[in-house]
Amino acid sequence: KKVVLAYSGGLDTSVIIPWLKENYGCEVIACTVNLGQPEDFDAIHEKALKSGASVAETLDVRKEFIEEYAYNVLKADGIYEGKYLLGTSFARPLIGKCLVDMAKKYGADAICHGATGKGNDQVRFELTIKALAPHMKIIAPWRIWDMKSREDEMKYAEEHGVPIDKYDEKQSEEEKAAQKYPYSMDWNMWHLSHEGDDLENPANAPHKDMYLVTCDPEDAPDKPEFVSIDFEAGVPVAVNGKKMDGVELVNTLNAIGAKNGVGINDLVENRLVGMKSRGVYENPCGSILFYAHTELERLCLDRATFHFKEVAAVKYSELVYDGMWFAPLREALQAFADKTSETVTGTVKLRLYKGNIMSAGATSPYSLYNEEFVTFGEDDVYNQADAEGFINLFGLPLTIRALMKEKNEK
Ligand code: ARG
Ligand code: SIN
Repeated sequence: KKVVLAYSGGLDTSVIIPWLKENYGCEVIACTVNLGQPEDFDAIHEKALKSGASVAETLDVRKEFIEEYAYNVLKADGIYEGKYLLGTSFARPLIGKCLVDMAKKYGADAICHGATGKGNDQVRFELTIKALAPHMKIIAPWRIWDMKSREDEMKYAEEHGVPIDKYDEKQSEEEKAAQKYPYSMDWNMWHLSHEGDDLENPANAPHKDMYLVTCDPEDAPDKPEFVSIDFEAGVPVAVNGKKMDGVELVNTLNAIGAKNGVGINDLVENRLVGMKSRGVYENPCGSILFYAHTELERLCLDRATFHFKEVAAVKYSELVYDGMWFAPLREALQAFADKTSETVTGTVKLRLYKGNIMSAGATSPYSLYNEEFVTFGEDDVYNQADAEGFINLFGLPLTIRALMKEKNEK
């Protein structure tokens, strides 16, 4: 029997390796997915093998992650509850897809993940596996084993020869407080999430020194930085005039945004599994791209399409959050986003300043902004007298209702 394990190199997923072997008598194939998180993948492989895996492999899907996941969400204006850029949510289906590919490659019977039974991630992994490999068995140790704490895991690790990193070691409360980053995080090149510890109380503001990608706006330069982004059909293709593929473009904008303290999203969100949770997200590039992309849509989309896109985006973001990436409605809304992106082509200039993103001008060959029509000066294309008839008919329901009320009041 063979099991493919979603392996990050952390204590949780390392402990799962001997646990799987002990409880299922299986071989473990450790699969790591490179989404641009700053990790030493060779060290991760070594740790997996030392922990008892028979194979350890990393799939580098950075380009696919940005160009087929992040950019799709961008084109659809997918932001969850008005604030969360979904950087974990749309990473999970891609990781799930990689796990399924690995399972097929090695003829595995089951896929195992280390998400807890209280979160969204378990749902996202498992819905993806159900959509792509309906017969695959799924193992979620956190829902079945009796380890309850980090201490339990440490004990199990020691008993089963799992190498323990310095940062895994048991810490006193004092040591924890002295440590800068006590949070549960999920890191990829699109975003970094921080949850848990003091953030679990929404009354607490995030620590100024907790940021690992961007910086606190107070520490950003006192001078604004201008950046220009070119879009073609809703997709960003160049920064400051230089053409870039998705990976280079995201890394470039992350660096520019981070320098200027841009991209901190601190929010309480509604989890799919019923409870609210509090997270602080770092998204320099994502924040810049969503801002720029919307600026261009303002120029290039007609009113009805723009408004309907706003409505569709709410449903789209919910589907992505809920792990429904491979669902027909997500795909249909994606087709809508693709169609309406056809004219979202042009250049947006932004001013970044101490955590703020501001517009500094946008141009598009498909702009529907027509100065000839909009001017407050004299023009000969718009007949102001037409407006009277328009208002009479547009307001007719209001007039008729008022007449009815008047009659009944008599
Ligand atoms: N709350 C966010 C979401 O549901 C982030 C989850 C982060 N996951 C993690 N395993 N640390 O998408
Ligand atoms: C987890 O529970 O594994 C992380 C948090 C989440 O999935 O929402």
